[in-house]
Amino acid sequence: MTPTTPPSQTLAQKAAGAPKSELHIHIEGSLEPELIFRLAQRNGVKLAYDSVDALRAAYAFTDLQSFLDIYYAGASVLLAEQDFYDMTAAYCERALADNVVHAEIFFDPQTHTERGVSIETAVAGIDRALADAQQRGLTSKLILCFLRHLPEADALATFDAALPLFDRYPRMIGIGLDSSERGHPPSKFERVFEKARAKGLKLVAHAGEEGPPSYIYEALDLLKVDRVDHGVRSIEDPALVARLADARVALTVCPLSNLKLCVFDDLTKHTLKALLDEGVAVTVNSDDPAYFGGYVNANYVATIDALKLADDEVYTIVRNGFEASFVTPGERAAMIAKLDAYWHAG
Ligand code: ADE
Ligand code: ZN
Repeated sequence: MTPTTPPSQTLAQKAAGAPKSELHIHIEGSLEPELIFRLAQRNGVKLAYDSVDALRAAYAFTDLQSFLDIYYAGASVLLAEQDFYDMTAAYCERALADNVVHAEIFFDPQTHTERGVSIETAVAGIDRALADAQQRGLTSKLILCFLRHLPEADALATFDAALPLFDRYPRMIGIGLDSSERGHPPSKFERVFEKARAKGLKLVAHAGEEGPPSYIYEALDLLKVDRVDHGVRSIEDPALVARLADARVALTVCPLSNLKLCVFDDLTKHTLKALLDEGVAVTVNSDDPAYFGGYVNANYVATIDALKLADDEVYTIVRNGFEASFVTPGERAAMIAKLDAYWHAG
């Protein structure tokens, strides 16, 4: 069947209305400036900016590190379980408005434990908001990420402290690796990923965002990840692209993030379409939507426009998001059936 778009509806509108997944969203990156200020006031936290506008004006990033410095400062307002609940509930509202039906959400426990906030405080608040959102049609998973700029010993201690939580919170199904990529290759975290694999957890890692293709090989060969977050620099290595395509290793691509962090100086130069053409299972996601100018629909709309994606290409990307999600085969089939009913209607 050839998918068609009714003339009354643009492809961007069709994508916006489609049931979608989101597989790459840092919940701390969904903290909008207004909420940062509200939580700062509630918790008596002093910020380096004296207004929402001044904070927003600082969102002019030159690379990943320039963003991370502000992102960690923003997260400093999160102290109580209710703060994590409020942040996550706000994200769920935005996701539901974008017709996201399934989200796999990252959180960074080490960002909070270093301020004396326990992992359980964070998980309890996030999980409670996700349970509430599930009643409204958004299913979800939670992925605990390690900060790669810190030593592996810290990641191992964090993993050990979090172990009981994996059993207590069934939504928490995996681990990831984020923060400053350059100089912190996946090989640094081989032991903690091995421990997580032995426990049967799902494994993901940021690789090939700013780092070279060799980091993607390490994520695959040493960490044995199920998905690669970003992975856009894989295009520099044709053998790697062929391997990703053959093995159906999904890339959770975040186009507006890549633009804002100067991975590409223009969205028309983004490698997503070239990777799609090579058969790589690319997906579209928002990364840190409060900082990068848009949630998942904004990412679809901008990417469709910049890369002149066709109807069947957008369908494939949305479908890839369900294919690559960590759900049961039955849940996956139901999500794809909903997508098909929507996409091929009328
Ligand atoms: N933490 C939050 N967003 C990130 C990104 N885009 N890359 C690495 N670490 C992150
Ligand atoms: Zn990310």
